[in-house]
Amino acid sequence: MLLVYGSYGYTGRLVVDEALERGTDIVVAGRNAEKVETQADETGYEGRVFSLDDLGVVRDNIEDTEAVLNCAGPFSETHPTLVDACLAEGVDYLDITGEVDVFERLAALDDEARDADVTLLPGVGFDVVPSDCLAAYLAERAEDPYYLAVGLRSMTSISPGTARTVVEGLGKSGVIRRDGELRDVPAAWKTRNIDFGDGDGTVSAVSMPLGDVSTAYRSTGIENIEGYVSLPRSARLAARASRYAAPLLRTKPAQAALKRLADAVAEGPDEEERETVKGYVWGEVRGENGKHVARLRTPETYALTARTALEALERADEVDAGFQTPATAFGAEFIVEFDGVEREDVDS
Ligand SMILES: NC(=O)c1ccc[n+]([C@@H]2O[C@H](COP(=O)([O-])OP(=O)(O)OC[C@H]3O[C@@H](n4cnc5c(N)ncnc54)[C@H](OP(=O)(O)O)[C@@H]3O)[C@@H](O)[C@H]2O)c1
Repeated sequence: MLLVYGSYGYTGRLVVDEALERGTDIVVAGRNAEKVETQADETGYEGRVFSLDDLGVVRDNIEDTEAVLNCAGPFSETHPTLVDACLAEGVDYLDITGEVDVFERLAALDDEARDADVTLLPGVGFDVVPSDCLAAYLAERAEDPYYLAVGLRSMTSISPGTARTVVEGLGKSGVIRRDGELRDVPAAWKTRNIDFGDGDGTVSAVSMPLGDVSTAYRSTGIENIEGYVSLPRSARLAARASRYAAPLLRTKPAQAALKRLADAVAEGPDEEERETVKGYVWGEVRGENGKHVARLRTPETYALTARTALEALERADEVDAGFQTPATAFGAEFIVEFDGVEREDVDS
């Protein structure tokens, strides 16, 4: 039995729709009784109502399942109890986080997960499936790879959960990996000009603390990793300005007000956007035999997330126990198995 937690959120609903379309049997779950029951009625799936406050309650609700996909974010808040329950009950844990802290905490539980015969597989959405697979693909082509840069570009609207997760990151420093260690750097400390292959030519991308600084390190062993995101100019300036406003942005009242604002204004892409907008991922690996660059064109980020997350959930039983990334779990070719994904070598 496969359980989707946070199933009535924006992204959770897309995962449930995908399961219905594919005929996958799942249990829908979350903390709001009315929303879970409505969704269970509409879909015919079993619904389970439980919050994440009490470990015993969570254990009781997942003990008869094989794997749990957590779609309730920010994951810094939701992963601890669900992961502890999964480890205690021998249930595989997956989520769609892109948060570096969450990846690092789960990576630190690797031994515990192996002992419990549990797979911990975070990041099975747009963050980080395409970039992780691209990093692994490029690393295979490089001799003794020592540097990886990953860039993301998508002009889609964002969902309430993503907006709240972005608010949590405001005022925090950037993070890169240097000589194998995570290093804090100023927010938006560097820019790079990147051609994502979307017809806009070379555009400016600003450094961001992408989950790849955790995941690609485990997938490829590369010790120097930087993440970049292409943002409109106003957002780039705001990202840099957030350095100076950091003490204010990190206060509880500011965080609460901004999260309320995020809930009010962010709706997520509508169906037309999900069907027409594209996502772009660029990667560069440097090794002893030179520089290797490739890029991916993907379906819209939330549409792709629903597909990669459900596929990973269905195939979790074939993955080894312990901490895994999408590429260590399913290989570098995993991403190109999805309809609408194209990979292109740019330089080698
Ligand atoms: N990796 C990726 O590429 C990717 C793609 C899409 C989304 N995401 C991430 O996924 C998360 C959800 O996004 P969304 O767009 O679906 O957001 P959303 O529409 O706001 O839904 C969030 C869901 O999480 C639940 N939730 C939040 N906090 C909870 C808590 N403390 N305990 C129990 N349930 C809780 C909410 O339940 P209530 O309504 O009861 O609060 C709701 O069901 C965000 O962090 C987003 O960044 C990642």
